[in-house]
Amino acid sequence: MLVAAAAERNKVPILRVLQQYMDPDQRGLRVLEVASGAGYHVAHFAQAFPHAEWQPSDVDQRCLDRGSSKQQDTCSNPKRCSSPTGNPEWGLRDTALLEDLGQASGLLLERMVDMPANNKCLIFRKQ
Ligand SMILES: C[S@@+](CC[C@H](N)C(=O)[O-])C[C@H]1O[C@@H](n2cnc3c(N)ncnc32)[C@H](O)[C@@H]1O
Repeated sequence: MLVAAAAERNKVPILRVLQQYMDPDQRGLRVLEVASGAGYHVAHFAQAFPHAEWQPSDVDQRCLDRGSSKQQDTCSNPKRCSSPTGNPEWGLRDTALLEDLGQASGLLLERMVDMPANNKCLIFRKQ
């Protein structure tokens, strides 16, 4: 079984942030995950928030096909899913740009939390 190393490293720190903003007992919460890849994170988070409705998404249909046809913590293509820091096509890396985009959509950047390996978790709140 191949599990993306970065996804494994980040899953607990991201979950800790989510736990500060979401109530695990609340029903009716709907969560959209953008860029779910093989779905490793969303599967982990769904266990911690079993009452929430999780909607994974990805620009790459192959990731969604893989996630729905297999266990969501596996990936059959290591070049696509195990080394996200080599792939310049993945992710938005300029936080100032994200802040501007958020403001243009009525979302205020409230907090930035450091994750392992230079990743960041950004909290936006609707204004
Ligand atoms: C590092 S992987 C995500 C890993 C995922 N969080 C997990 O748990 O396995 C990055 C993903 O971002 C997706 N992606 C890149 N640009 C995107 C975009 N503009 N919209 C949606 N997904 C995008 C890629 O297809 C890739 O699957």
